[in-house]
Amino acid sequence: MSKLGVNIDHIATVRQARKTFEPDPVRAVHLCEIAGADSIVSHLREDRRHINDRDVRLIKEIVNIRFNLEMSIAAEIVDIALKLGPDQVSLVPEKREEVTTEGGLDVVLKRNELKKTIQRFKDKDIIVNLFIDPEISQIEASLEVNSDAIELHTGSYANAANQSAMEDEFKKIVDATDYARKHGLTVHAGHGLTYFNAKKIADIKEIEELNIGHSIISRAVFVGLERAVKDMMNLIKCNQV
Ligand code: PXP
Repeated sequence: MSKLGVNIDHIATVRQARKTFEPDPVRAVHLCEIAGADSIVSHLREDRRHINDRDVRLIKEIVNIRFNLEMSIAAEIVDIALKLGPDQVSLVPEKREEVTTEGGLDVVLKRNELKKTIQRFKDKDIIVNLFIDPEISQIEASLEVNSDAIELHTGSYANAANQSAMEDEFKKIVDATDYARKHGLTVHAGHGLTYFNAKKIADIKEIEELNIGHSIISRAVFVGLERAVKDMMNLIKCNQV
């Protein structure tokens, strides 16, 4: 049974559309908790386009479930995260011009930098999760840098052009999960998951948690956040909406 991490960034995206005080992403935390979510995810981007320093500080102060801070490995953000002390960090690549995180982290290329950064988090008992494409080389590098967990990028699965491409991408996720679990890594998955495509990923037994943002916040606009989170929980945990 897969857990659910709710990414609340897009509540802040709406706030930033008017650069005002509402809607406040911090208020979403309790609603996600009441709905039964397993963790709260938010991404403190270097350009602060949605979530800002005040948000993560307040989320950390009030959250009762696991707080998973998504972040790049830019020195400024790493320093903020170490001071803040979330339960978990999810390290992602970040480009200013992208609309959302585009690809997985290249752990193979950045292994030296990552190894040092990961150790700093581990010294503070912060769980480290690396957002990677479902490739064996990236999993091997994740093991080498001593990550606790990986989050498999489901974007290619979610955006596949047709059923056959989707099945190919699904198989990559299944194989990557299998390999990572055999080598002792905790496996999460996320990106582009919706009420239509998340169940198939949630049914991969060894995936511990799905991290979902855009689709839940989109549904929340119509039915409210608590209901949208409950719907996703029912879907991935019991196959009912
Ligand atoms: N996991 C990671 C690492 C992400 O960067 C994102 C997007 O912020 C998500 C999960 C959630 O993706 P989506 O908003 O498409 O559900």
